[in-house]
Amino acid sequence: MPQHSTAYTIGFAAAVCGVCSLFVAGSAVALKPRQLDNKAIDRQLKVLAVAGLMEGGEDLSKEQVRERYDQYIQPVVVDLKTGAPASDVDAKSFDQQEAMANPASSAKAPENPAKVQRIPNKGVLFKIVKDGKLDGVIFPVQGKGLWSTMYGYLALEADGNTVKGITFYEHGETPGLGGEIENPLWQSLWPGRQIYDREGVPKLQVVKGQAGSVADDPYAIDGLSGATLTSRGVTGLVQFWLGENGYGPYVERLRAEKGEI
Ligand SMILES: Cc1cc2nc3c(=O)[nH]c(=O)nc-3n(C[C@H](O)[C@H](O)[C@H](O)COP(=O)(O)O)c2cc1C
Repeated sequence: MPQHSTAYTIGFAAAVCGVCSLFVAGSAVALKPRQLDNKAIDRQLKVLAVAGLMEGGEDLSKEQVRERYDQYIQPVVVDLKTGAPASDVDAKSFDQQEAMANPASSAKAPENPAKVQRIPNKGVLFKIVKDGKLDGVIFPVQGKGLWSTMYGYLALEADGNTVKGITFYEHGETPGLGGEIENPLWQSLWPGRQIYDREGVPKLQVVKGQAGSVADDPYAIDGLSGATLTSRGVTGLVQFWLGENGYGPYVERLRAEKGEI
């Protein structure tokens, strides 16, 4: 075939595309396990951070993250309706997103402020155990912001009411506006705030403007400026997941047992 013919050019371009696509597809497949591993480590890092198990600015290797996580964090799967532990499930491999998507292991959610569509029958949580004693509990939370579903962790002290911390590991809010949910300064406003009112109903909310001190204004967190809708979404996800359709029944048991479960 003459080198300057149209057929030759098209054939040559097709061959280059074929080789490149094989290379790209091969790399994607080969790197997938590493990507999943990195994602898992990143989640463990977020869990350690929200549990207060990392010093500010501490730089841990993957091995150190795994070690510290295994030392202090115990994943547990609970029946969300009763709050009782579900012993028939391996908590380490439980996939909550899959459980939420599967009609056999979830139910349609009533209208809710987090705009969660389906509630899983069972939910995972993470106990923080120090010197054989419960030091706190971490709950996965998710809910709609302005642009995206925001995924994070909310940690409570063992009293089942006082916030230990909050962190987000995935969202698509605007950097500098709703994306400020990732800002450590904003997250530092959370510890010490209270979740439940006297009737046991989640009351904590992100307010518009500034909240008072922890002592004077225990149920409020400063709003994110220019991001009222994201702020509202954060209120929604906290109130939903710690309410009666989320981990509320578990937290009620925790409070009744005075942090012994
Ligand atoms: C490009 C762009 C990005 C925005 N991103 C966000 C966001 O991430 N979260 C949010 O709540 N509002 C965001 N907003 C603002 C909202 O549209 C809305 O005006 C805002 O939530 C109102 O909040 P405010 O009363 O604090 O101004 C964005 C607006 C623009 C133009």
